[in-house]
Amino acid sequence: QAATTYEAENATISQGAAESNHTGYSGTGFVNYDNTTGSYVEFAVDSPTAGPATLTLRYANGTSTNRPMAIAVNGATTAKDFPGTGAWTTWQDSSLTTTLNAGANTVRATATTANGGPNLDRLVLGAPSAAGTPV
Ligand code: GCU
Repeated sequence: QAATTYEAENATISQGAAESNHTGYSGTGFVNYDNTTGSYVEFAVDSPTAGPATLTLRYANGTSTNRPMAIAVNGATTAKDFPGTGAWTTWQDSSLTTTLNAGANTVRATATTANGGPNLDRLVLGAPSAAGTPV
């Protein structure tokens, strides 16, 4: 199965904004989460089959403080750390395995600290990309 890319700037954004002032993103930009607990990006993910799947979030965190998020797949939440990447222009992949339904799924990435989330470039369903390589 080929990987499918969902750009964060095209997803549903609550308490955040699509921006493009730090280079290295794929698509037309990334989401800058508001620096507040509860800010989120929600992706509508279509899966051809039910079963295990790899989700890869590409992000940048130019601070030295972790920006943890709750990753909710159809409402079932996993906590993920998004530590500093060294610069806002340095993007890294962070993957998790989950279980998807056939057809429509929601994947919501919600900031769990007052710093908000990292800058979020995209979600890839399927094989993770080579780190840092725009698709
Ligand atoms: C800076 C940076 C933003 C980032 C923000 C943050 O303002 O330019 O892209 O989102 O810090 O701390 O969240």
